[in-house]
Amino acid sequence: IIMGARNESLFLMKEEMTALADEIIFMTDDGSYGRKGLVTEPLKELCEDTKGKPDMVLAIGPPIMMKFCALTTKPYGVKTVVSLNSIMVDGTGMCGGCRVTIGGKTKFVCVDGPEFDGHEVDWNNMLQRMGAFKPQEQEALHRFGANDGHKCNIDKMADAKAKESK
Ligand code: FES
Repeated sequence: IIMGARNESLFLMKEEMTALADEIIFMTDDGSYGRKGLVTEPLKELCEDTKGKPDMVLAIGPPIMMKFCALTTKPYGVKTVVSLNSIMVDGTGMCGGCRVTIGGKTKFVCVDGPEFDGHEVDWNNMLQRMGAFKPQEQEALHRFGANDGHKCNIDKMADAKAKESK
């Protein structure tokens, strides 16, 4: 497993993921935990490993990261499955909000995915569509702000789940 985050505080479920993996590599943008750099660096090293490249890569996370994982593995012929997270409205295949282009064909992430062959995704089209509401997102951020008193508790939820399963 390769896990990446901007800094150490943003990793979720580090212990659980470590327990699942034969080997785990942590990457941070600022070097506060593990190696400093992007997840594509160790991914490329693994693809170049003379002892055997990965059979398959499963990339989950921000679209830009998944795009560059797919671009990294493509020259090595390593099958790369990505879990797309395009904008969704109805989630039933009717609104078209989540439309992506895969291998030149129109697909809907909500009903045809979310997993697709990363080498077939039209990433530029997807990233452009995901930016369609950027002005509204900026306005909402400005209006409601990041300092509205909200505290993300997802890490506490993960801890509680881990305790439940013990
Ligand atoms: Fe509407 Fe997928 S969310 S078609």
